[in-house]
Amino acid sequence: MKRITVIGTGYVGLVSGAGMSDFGNDVSCVDVDKQKIDLLIKGKIPIYEQGLEKLVYRNTKSKRLHFSHDISDAIKSAEVIFIAVGTPENETGNADISAILDVAQLIGQTINNYKVICTKSTVPVGTGKQIIDIINKYNTNNIEYDYCSNPEFLREGKAVSDFQRPDRIVLGVTSKKSYEYMKDVYRPLYINKTPIIHTTVETAEMIKYAANAFLALKISYINEVANLCDEIGADINIVSEALGSDGRISSKFLHPGPGFGGSCFPKDTKALVHTAKKYNLEMHTVNAAIKTNYLQPKRMLDKLEKLLEGDLSSKLIGILGLSFKQETDDVRESPAIKVIRGLQKKEAMIRAYDPVANNSMKKIFPDIKYRLSWQSAVKDCDAVVIMTEWNEFRGMDLIKLKKLMHSPVILDTRNILNITELKELGFKFDNVGRK
Ligand code: UDX
Repeated sequence: MKRITVIGTGYVGLVSGAGMSDFGNDVSCVDVDKQKIDLLIKGKIPIYEQGLEKLVYRNTKSKRLHFSHDISDAIKSAEVIFIAVGTPENETGNADISAILDVAQLIGQTINNYKVICTKSTVPVGTGKQIIDIINKYNTNNIEYDYCSNPEFLREGKAVSDFQRPDRIVLGVTSKKSYEYMKDVYRPLYINKTPIIHTTVETAEMIKYAANAFLALKISYINEVANLCDEIGADINIVSEALGSDGRISSKFLHPGPGFGGSCFPKDTKALVHTAKKYNLEMHTVNAAIKTNYLQPKRMLDKLEKLLEGDLSSKLIGILGLSFKQETDDVRESPAIKVIRGLQKKEAMIRAYDPVANNSMKKIFPDIKYRLSWQSAVKDCDAVVIMTEWNEFRGMDLIKLKKLMHSPVILDTRNILNITELKELGFKFDNVGRK
């Protein structure tokens, strides 16, 4: 078991830090955001993530997980340092790695004995080399270290269980010694025979982007097939099921909807295209997935406009679900943002409700009306749009919904409602690919 420091306490850093302490490692999580660390020291979790609070509580209590402001001290005392700071998209569509490079400089200036410096943040292919160059520049005493790229495949909302039961661990390392160190960090998974992919830094960096872009491709593909189903009267649910039963395709990520969002797919697809451009290559398929995803929320707006016979102005629209998917309060790149913007342009009136993401969306749209229940959000609405597949909306009492609304018009962008029931109750409705 290792002494670990995790720099950056966002989704990836916090979940990984808590998860690694649960594996038996001694973990210090640090961040430049002092407020965040103060919250964590008090036992408060700054993000909504299933199972995280319990995991953090359990491991801080058993003194395997610590939070600290002192980054230099945490660097010095660690055997393995995980870099898990943010890499937001910059104006050119590439990932902004300035925070990563700042951390690399600090590590170079502070390093005092052998360590494995490991990047968990999603960074463009080639970043590992840049990090090594910067550490070398500031590591004037030539202290021995190794570098590792250990990309994370955590899904928001399922991050804790994804960390504890991953499909594989990717370790792109610069030496056999660092591979042994990293295997020790993941000892319980290694013993459980979780596949460990031992590779080079560049290959590990590529795996992360290739995986995310492939999943994005799958979603955009199924969305386009669903759009065609709309036109020809086929049922996308059955098409998806049949596709998914082919082991070569697999049933995962074949759910059509309003387009993918979140902090990863939109950013990572663009970054991959950007990296390829640097090498004079066009990623035609990934570009197509990005374009389809750009158009999909617009298609949802067109559907709503059609349901309301071409007139959205002054109509009261209830938006159910704001987060980019269920089980998270994250609204980054959420398709709901594009739909709300479109509705505002058409001068519709908006009422919104999300079980956990109202506050996150308030930061983007402070002026729309937020409600604390779906019942209150749909009251007297001319139409309701389901944007996120929360279980609460799957189980909505449709008789009650109809009674509460001004007119029973519903757009189900996640295909979670029962079509037969909607028909029987006299709803005017649409969905994605299930006429
Ligand atoms: C993703 C990857 O799954 C994860 O491995 C990586 O580390 C980070 O990015 P996340 O962004 O949390 O995780 O969510 P995910 O569950 O993958 O969904 C991404 C988006 O695709 C969401 O907007 C979701 O609604 C959408 N989606 C997903 C679909 O529209 N259809 C699907 O079938 C699956």
